[in-house]
Amino acid sequence: MHVLIINGSPRIKKYSNTDKILSEFTKGMCEKGDTFDLYEISDKKSWDNIRKAYDESDNILIALPLYVECIPGLLMEFLETLTPKTGGAKMSFILQSGFAEGVQLRCGEAYLERLAGRLGCEYGGTLCKGGNFEIRFLNDENRVKATSPYGEMGREFSANGNFNSDKCKAFTGPEIFPAPVRLMVGFFFRTAVRKSFMRDAESLGCTKPLDYKPYT
Ligand SMILES: Cc1cc2nc3c(=O)[nH]c(=O)nc-3n(C[C@H](O)[C@H](O)[C@H](O)COP(=O)(O)O)c2cc1C
Repeated sequence: MHVLIINGSPRIKKYSNTDKILSEFTKGMCEKGDTFDLYEISDKKSWDNIRKAYDESDNILIALPLYVECIPGLLMEFLETLTPKTGGAKMSFILQSGFAEGVQLRCGEAYLERLAGRLGCEYGGTLCKGGNFEIRFLNDENRVKATSPYGEMGREFSANGNFNSDKCKAFTGPEIFPAPVRLMVGFFFRTAVRKSFMRDAESLGCTKPLDYKPYT
């Protein structure tokens, strides 16, 4: 099969975690001869080309990061320019995020299922996975370690043409962390992470505490 893949991150290719994920995913997907074209919506100059590819494709995969619990605004802007398809195209999604619990991806997943229908496409499922904040900061070896599980999902997609298999569903990992882990993460965010955010804010010239509420 031939797949049109659209990276829906507003980050340019070099900095995009979605790009690194797609790199491993497509390796797995292409092992048995499948092929793909890849476009980035971060490159606004290519939008006419992406639209043309969309119009001509019957197998579309949009890979996107979760931004503020939702889909990135730039991707939304692009999607609003598409004409719904007629004639049996399929649309699937990879939805990835920073925080690791599956539950936070479910709202976006429900939206994407509707989106496929609104664009006149059969829904090929959404591969949901969090825990991806640091991918772009890792060295080559650790980045491959972190993203190589997506290679297996590429093989699944190649074999089934969708993300509906039990393996793809299990790939998300835990919906909600157990209570002790949630407590530990909460503590970590209130201490170490807060300190590091404050340091970053100060380095950008911020003089007020991060929880300063000037309008209350
Ligand atoms: C503006 C912004 C908002 C984000 N919002 C969320 C969020 O609500 N939940 C989450 O788990 N991760 C969030 N993230 C983290 C991204 O989903 C994560 O780092 C992702 O891997 C980025 O992919 P990209 O580099 O291809 O854009 C956010 C990141 C940014 C920059």
